[in-house]
Amino acid sequence: MTKVIAHNNLIDEIILRNEEMEVHLLNLGATIKNIYVSDAQKHIRDVVLGYGDVFDYMRYDGYLGASVGRCANRIAKGRFTLDGKTYHLPINNGPHSLHGGLKGFSYRLFDYIYTNHQVTFHYLSPDGQEGYPGTLDVYVTYTLDKTTLTMDYQAVTSQTTLVNLTNHTYFNLDGIACPIDDHLLTVKASHYALVDGDGLVTGEIRDIHHTPFDFTKEKAIGEALHSDDPQIILARGLDHPFLFDDNHDQVILRSKASGITMKVSTSLPLAQIYSANYLDGRLGKHKYPMNAQSALCIETSYLPDSIHLEKDSPTILKPGESYQASTSYTFTHEG
Ligand code: BGC
Repeated sequence: MTKVIAHNNLIDEIILRNEEMEVHLLNLGATIKNIYVSDAQKHIRDVVLGYGDVFDYMRYDGYLGASVGRCANRIAKGRFTLDGKTYHLPINNGPHSLHGGLKGFSYRLFDYIYTNHQVTFHYLSPDGQEGYPGTLDVYVTYTLDKTTLTMDYQAVTSQTTLVNLTNHTYFNLDGIACPIDDHLLTVKASHYALVDGDGLVTGEIRDIHHTPFDFTKEKAIGEALHSDDPQIILARGLDHPFLFDDNHDQVILRSKASGITMKVSTSLPLAQIYSANYLDGRLGKHKYPMNAQSALCIETSYLPDSIHLEKDSPTILKPGESYQASTSYTFTHEG
């Protein structure tokens, strides 16, 4: 069953519901606003951070629950060259361009169509928007099936451009913005990418073994957050691409307190795992403060700044090609 709530005839909240769970989506940024799931005691918890007032999604940064594009994370110096032409993007994060620029997809109103278990959001990004070449037609489809929410991304362009989409949901499986330290994390990744003091991926790839980044066996997130590893200190926590070894259920997040587990499965090669280090105490749902390290983002994507780091970057999209990616979140609980 699908229901729509209109907020001031501008932002629509689309509610997908089945017997197992309920998901609230916004046409602003094709954003995930709420994911309600049942815990071990059959209490319903909203396992994602967000704002109480939907207009706060327009006012503030943080990309809570948002679809991020055209390119997630940083493009070095906001500059890149394609087919011999150099393009300039807005600089909005230190010396770099972050998350699609000043007004990336997270701040755009999508049109949408829905059925009883699915919503497809669509956005037409004009040529030159936020400095990116080519008109880009973007589709983000959310499908609810039992306890799985799947996001399918598709994009086509009129001119060679860059595309590296992600979703920026902040998960806390306890259903409140409390410290994420005790959540247990498994990541099927034996390598991660280093970042510099500006959060830019340097291109250096490191083996996770014998480092705090080793989540190949389930471990409390706090063990990494409180380590004195220079990469953790530099990023104020986790804010790094984890390069997957597997192509299924690559990330598993679990809370012993709520008994809720989430499995993330993706067609993409990595996830930027970000422990919400820059949340600044701003008020979220129920006027509850959202502090640093009170959630975990699992941003599945291609390598950030891939255009400068990878030969034949998979983030280059040409006319006639179709960008396709899929990521799903599956929830279970003990008991
Ligand atoms: C980035 C962080 C950035 C944050 C902004 C994350 O995806 O990795 O470095 O501060 O987004 O919300």
